[in-house]
Amino acid sequence: MTPIILYHSRTGFTQQYATWLSEDLHCPALPYRERGSIDWFKYDTVLFGSWFHAGSVMGKSWLKQQLPQWKEKHVILFVTGAAPAGEAQTAAMEQNFTPQEWAQLRAFYLPGGLRYERMGTVDRAMMAVYRRMLRAKEGPDSLAYQTICRSFDMADRAAIRPIVDCCQAL
Ligand SMILES: Cc1cc2nc3c(=O)[nH]c(=O)nc-3n(C[C@H](O)[C@H](O)[C@H](O)COP(=O)(O)O)c2cc1C
Repeated sequence: MTPIILYHSRTGFTQQYATWLSEDLHCPALPYRERGSIDWFKYDTVLFGSWFHAGSVMGKSWLKQQLPQWKEKHVILFVTGAAPAGEAQTAAMEQNFTPQEWAQLRAFYLPGGLRYERMGTVDRAMMAVYRRMLRAKEGPDSLAYQTICRSFDMADRAAIRPIVDCCQAL
């Protein structure tokens, strides 16, 4: 197995997981902006890391374009988000892909968090709208609302274990 990690990260959670994975798998981890300079023929396993943005997996359009040429490769998707791991997160990942695309991927959700201090203006504004919606729906004292009112970090190195095991079994 000759893996490479390509990651899309804005506030650092996905980058952190990509770094941990590159240490455990002894392989390069490159940011999304460098995708054009990679010699993809050298690698038989691609780990694509990204994050949820209002339910959408960032960079998925590019990934979808590569899938037809990557039929012989193992393609592993890992996605970070602000929600704890669970079936809903797996379902949310699946919704981003057609059944054919999904069948070509092995997908893993990794708990990230929120880092308001590193978000751009648009994302901060989107989060403000989401907070208002959640406050109205769940109430100002609800755990869901209180949790997203400030930055938090759920990133956990142990969460990459299933991905490392999956790669080592290839
Ligand atoms: C505008 C916006 C929308 C988001 N939407 C979701 C979402 O739909 N589901 C989720 O679990 N997390 C969501 N998040 C949280 C991010 O996915 C989370 O912070 C992620 O770990 C960021 O990755 P990064 O640090 O690598 O950029 C959202 C964050 C922002 C700023």
